[in-house]
Amino acid sequence: MPPITLNRRAILALGGAFFLFLILSGAITNHVRPDLIQNHLPDSWRSKSNLPPPQQDPPAAAPPPKLDNGDPRQKWQEEIFPLAKAGKVPKINPKNIVKDNNLKTPLLIGFTRNWYLLEQAVVSYLAAGWPSSQVIVIDNSGVMDSNLRGLLTPKNPWYLNHTRLTQLGVSVKRTPTLLSFAQLQNFFINYAIEQDWGYYFWSHMDVVVLSKEYDTKNYKGLYEGAVDILRNALDERRHWALKFFAYDWLTLVNVEAMKDIGAWDTQIPYYMTDCDMYARLNMKNWTLDPVDVGHVYDVGSHLKDLAVLYPAEGQESELNTTRFNDLKIELERMMKEKQENKGASGRNYWQARQDGGQGEPFWRNPKGFERAINFWIEKGRELFRLKWDYGDCDLVQKGYKYGEEWTRG
Ligand SMILES: *[C@@H]1O[C@H](CO)[C@@H](O)[C@H](O)[C@H]1NC(C)=O
Ligand SMILES: *[C@@H]1O[C@H](CO)[C@@H](O)[C@H](O)[C@H]1NC(C)=O
Ligand SMILES: *[C@@H]1O[C@H](CO)[C@@H](O)[C@H](O)[C@H]1NC(C)=O
Repeated sequence: MPPITLNRRAILALGGAFFLFLILSGAITNHVRPDLIQNHLPDSWRSKSNLPPPQQDPPAAAPPPKLDNGDPRQKWQEEIFPLAKAGKVPKINPKNIVKDNNLKTPLLIGFTRNWYLLEQAVVSYLAAGWPSSQVIVIDNSGVMDSNLRGLLTPKNPWYLNHTRLTQLGVSVKRTPTLLSFAQLQNFFINYAIEQDWGYYFWSHMDVVVLSKEYDTKNYKGLYEGAVDILRNALDERRHWALKFFAYDWLTLVNVEAMKDIGAWDTQIPYYMTDCDMYARLNMKNWTLDPVDVGHVYDVGSHLKDLAVLYPAEGQESELNTTRFNDLKIELERMMKEKQENKGASGRNYWQARQDGGQGEPFWRNPKGFERAINFWIEKGRELFRLKWDYGDCDLVQKGYKYGEEWTRG
């Protein structure tokens, strides 16, 4: 049977052609597979975990969502953090600052396109207490030093404001050229090895994190919770590989585990490479655990003004304010909107607005860029099937053992 036939079947099994768009939403770095992570959790966890059921297949004939609803958030906005532009970045809640922590907590956030989502994610981590010196944006835009030199304009999808990140205290590390999702993951691992880190955190760029301020009695900021998880993990005798904070939207990675199984298979560039990786870890008895220290929202749009992520002036130490509760509702709405629009172009609607920059260094046709990623996603799916002689994520449940790749079929 020609591989294309097999491949079509695999796609059908996974929810139809629209499913493809799910993994395409933000950028290369957006790679959300709640069902997959759930499949790789031990049964004991699954039965008692709060994870929602695997995502349902979107109906194949879903009508296109209404796009122009007059929502001001949907309008093009060149500046979404005017206070930063004015040099007045607000103060974070002092309760979110962790003192006397001697553990490093490097957080890598991969960026390929959509500066506005990236800035929003970064700012949300800073407001949740993540020290800016520990946040590293991995610039995988593939435009070499163009962003460093300020050569791209904000309507260019690959635009990133270096000056702004520096102003926020966040550093930027460039990949040498545009990397696929799997290559970027291995870049993270290699970077950790170079820096002599035994572990690191990585986050999707299309998320917003929020501490549980309504828990006023036992309040712990999201960053403090992440440090606790890390400290406990380092004390564990078990072979832990990954800690998933809300699926893999934020993940703590044990470098030793990554090295032990030979890291990500870069020949499966996007989709299914996570199935391959998580299954191989599982087969070698490394653990993958869900943890919960706060909200991690998966979003495809941005807030009108990022200042709302910070406490209002004069209310810095207060918890559970109206601002917080309104923000939480808004983020829930944004996440729902993204999930409901999954599979349709609505999900990428905002992104389509950032469609300029033609003629600037390393510019590529954005639609062509997306089609090309689609192409490689398809090829990766075929390769996964060749590798395991099986086309789905539940390799472990189906009895596949470590080292059995390339031995069947
Ligand atoms: C980039 O950020 C800097 C620092 O906040 C700001 O002054 C500048 O206007 C921004 N550039 C653009 C093109 O928005
Ligand atoms: C936090 O605020 C919400 C909304 O105002 C309220 O319903 C809730 O009771 C508050 N929680 C605490 C612990 O004060
Ligand atoms: C994983 O653990 C099981 C049960 O303890 C053991 O039988 C198996 O050999 C281990 N597999 C590997 C690859 O270490």
